[in-house]
This record gives sequence, C-alpha cells and structure tokens, in this order.
Amino acid sequence: MTHNLYKHKLLILDFGSQYTQLIARRVREAKVYCEIHPFNMALEEIQRFSPKGIVLSGGPASVYDEGAPLLHKGVFDLRIPVLGICYGMQVMTHILGGEVSRTQDREYGNAVISIRNHSELFHGLGADEEKIVWMSHGDRIDRMPPGFQILAKSKNSPVAAMGDPLKRHFGLQFHPEVAHTPDGFKILKNFMFTICGCEPSWTMSSFVHRTVEALGRQVGDGRVVCGMSGGVDSSVTAVLLHQAIGDRLSCILVDNGLLRKGEAEEVMDLFGGRYGIDLHLVDASDRFLTCLEGITDPEEKRKIIGREFIQVFEAKAKELGEARYLAQGTLYPDVIESVSFKGPSATIKSHHNVGGLPEVMNLKLIEPLRELFKDEVREVGAELGLPRDLVMRQPFPGPGLAVRILGAVTRERLEMLRRADAIVTEEIRMAQLYEKVWQSFAILLPVRSVGVMGDERTYEHVIALRVVDSLDAMTADWSKVPYAVLGRISNRIINHVKGVNRVVYDISSKPPSTIEWE
Ligand code: XMP
Repeated sequence: MTHNLYKHKLLILDFGSQYTQLIARRVREAKVYCEIHPFNMALEEIQRFSPKGIVLSGGPASVYDEGAPLLHKGVFDLRIPVLGICYGMQVMTHILGGEVSRTQDREYGNAVISIRNHSELFHGLGADEEKIVWMSHGDRIDRMPPGFQILAKSKNSPVAAMGDPLKRHFGLQFHPEVAHTPDGFKILKNFMFTICGCEPSWTMSSFVHRTVEALGRQVGDGRVVCGMSGGVDSSVTAVLLHQAIGDRLSCILVDNGLLRKGEAEEVMDLFGGRYGIDLHLVDASDRFLTCLEGITDPEEKRKIIGREFIQVFEAKAKELGEARYLAQGTLYPDVIESVSFKGPSATIKSHHNVGGLPEVMNLKLIEPLRELFKDEVREVGAELGLPRDLVMRQPFPGPGLAVRILGAVTRERLEMLRRADAIVTEEIRMAQLYEKVWQSFAILLPVRSVGVMGDERTYEHVIALRVVDSLDAMTADWSKVPYAVLGRISNRIINHVKGVNRVVYDISSKPPSTIEWE
C-alpha cells in the first residue's frame, strides 16, 4: 500500500489566495496527497511531480493587472485535468482564449448558483438545482474559451462554473474549499476521484510506516538530537525517530523557567519513563530568568530566550556526544510560507523556536513532519499511541509564559500567571471546550486596579483571559465562551490566585490583534 501513498497526488498552484491552504487541507482530508507550489512552477518540474490533477487557486489579482500572475500555456497541454478556482478560472479563461471583464456587480459572500449541466464535476448534486456557494470576486467570465460549456450560473455570473469535458479542464467562480459552500467538498471529491482518477491512499498509518523506514535509511548509523517541548509536533517527531533509530536518538528538554505548571515533569514521565526515550532535562530556569531581569520589550524577550536556548541546547548536545542530525517538528504551513510567491502566507509571523541552531552546531536537519498539516500530525500522534491529552494539546509559544507576562518577568509574576492559567485550562476542559477552541490561556497585565475584598480596599493585578477559535492561527476570532464558564474562571482566579483582583475577557479578533499579547 505504501508505494501508492504519493502516486495519486494533486498539485495546487498558488496564486496567492487566502484559501490556498484550505484547498490542500480538503484534498488531504479526502486522503489524497497534494502539495502547494508557486503559480510559476516550471513545466518540467510539474511533469516530474507527475500529478493526477492540477488545481489553480484563487488570488487577489485581476488578469489584466500589470504583472498579474499568469500560467504557462503548456500546463493545459499536459493531458492532466485542471480545476481553476476563482482567479484560477479567470487565468484559465484568459490563457485559453476566452474573455474576462471587470464587473460592476462584485459578488462577495453567499450566492446562489443554478446548475445547468450534468457534468461529472457536479455528480450527486442534482441538475437544475439551486445551490448556495461562497463567492469573492470582482472579475467575471464574459466569453468562455473554445470547447467550454456553462455548467452553472448565478445572478451576477453568467458563467459561475464551466468545463471542457474532453480536455478535462474546469473552472469555478466560487470557492468549493470553504465551509460556506456546503457542497464544495463533494465537488472537490468529484474532481479528484471521478475526473482525475485519484485513489484515497494518503493515510496516516501508511505515512508512519513509510516515514519510519525512510528515517532509518536517512540517518544510517548516525546520531540525532531533538529538542522536546511537550507540544504535539516535537513529541510526534521524537517518537517517530525513536521507532526508527532507538537509542541513537537523544532528546533534550530545556526548562527555561517559563513553562506551565507541572509541564516539565509530565514530559519527563511520559517520554523518559513510558516511552523509554533517551530524554535529558536541563534546568536552566535561573539562567533564563536572570537574563530576562528588567526586560519589558517583547522582541527583546524573544531574542534573549532564543539566544539562551541555543547556547543551553548546544552545550547539552555536545555533552551527549557527537550528533550529525538535528530533528525538528517543522510543519507543512512553515514550508509553504517559504515557497509561496506572495499573498497572505507570506505575512504570517514565523516562529522558529530553534532558529539558528543547525548552523551554529553544523548539523543536518531532519524534519519528518514537513509534509503534514497540524490535524494530520495529531492523527499520526494517535496512530503512534500517544495519549489524547497530548495529541490534542493546544499550541504553546516557544518563549513560553514570558510573552504572556506583559512587562518584566519575575518569579513572583510567573507563579501568579501559572496558577491563573491552570484554572483557565481546568475550567475550559470541564466545559468540554478545550478541544473545540484553538487556544485558551491567561495573560498577566502590567497594571493594577482597585478592588474591595471584605472591608478592605485592594490594589492588585489584572488577568486577561484569551480564548480564540481558529483553523490555522493565521486568522482567529474570540470564542463566544458561555457566560457561566467565564464567571467560574473569574471567580476561581480572584478567590484563589493571590495578588489578582480583576479578570477581563479579550474580545479582539486576529487581524488586527494577534493571538498572543506579545
Ligand atoms: P500570534 O500571536 O502571532 O500567534 O497570533 C499565532 C500562533 O503562534 C503561536 N506563537 C508562537 N509559537 N513560538 C511558537 O512556537 C513563538 O515565538 C510564538 N509566538 C506565537 C501562538 O501561540 C499562536 O498559536
């Protein structure tokens, strides 16, 4: 089965849409392997990649803009099915000899299309039916290229979908990849399975098999070091490597003094104990906290933490013996970020916690998860038998609680935040929200406010509560946590965390705010 894993794959050419990653996620969800590449990928490279189908993503440009991203005409002569989505459809039209024009009636948001043709693309949707779809375009198709037929219309788009059934080229003016197009996934699956003939062979168990084998070959008889944080990415990376090379893997957990309550102990117990991984705890709290003394600037905090981490890690790794490789839990979104030509993917903050390490230590990088999305990593974790608590763990920033303490980081303030944060996690878990939201945590603010406790006036600290919903951390919305849950969190924090007399809820979305406060 494993040989099939990458055989039935799709290529997504990125024209800079905010939804490009979403297309890839949908394709993977259907168990078909796919990769995102820039729109101008060379023809020979496309042939080498040998996809069963090509998807042209949407994008912010207009085909008539100066410097608009276009496509090599040869892509349409490869005898590979092509699906153009929104801007992708306009590019297809423009290149194949049709006409695109700027419309007065832009369509944004929900629209209704009526299906006009029994195309394979709409198989199972019913002809002559009206369907709700998500539109977001300013241009429209005025004249289709030769050989194309109208597959669907909407009020403002005479060509809401089109297709050339002989050449298997299709275009959609709407976005099938978003949840607001209820039948979108069906349409994508029709493209993948019926039109391209893909088989759903991308499964996480075959990924584990293949990866463990490949890691064994890649590492040979060398040694690998890996930084553990207790997060799902580094845990899965370490367990995969441990399966492949056993005790030639050494892991290092740096306690920077900025971890959450009980975190270091939990990681040591699970991986050092139960999994029998060669895991070394370096307690460097004093060193980190001394360096952070009096530092209030967020960027400076991050720089100091990054620098100290590299030094501590390097010293420990040397002490453990010569390693040739460094394993990192880099995920596919980080990889896309570095290949995408422009667009929103380029604007995400990159958070490489161990940035600089490989160069400093002259190590080769091993990144077994670089093809995976977060939800796939979680599936791999489950496949490897990791506890659900860990597999479903929310993301936690490398610089730890330092970026959740606004102002100077002191032991006293860390302790206050740790206690408040533990209460937040406990209550969010009890309300069955922990796995539903993207992140939920406490922040300690650098202000004090007046309160009253018993007969006494207090003048104490403020905790902010941040709970957000998100798919990938690129955008996020504040969660509509039930008032009762907010109330319990606030009560418990104010009653049990000494030094805090006020809790506030952060109701900002990203953008324009970020998820973390620093
Ligand atoms: P922001 O605050 O930029 O965060 O909206 C987006 C996501 O990234 C996490 N984050 C980090 N992760 N090292 C990390 O590993 C970091 O320095 C870092 N800063 C932010 C954040 O928790 C959120 O999930």
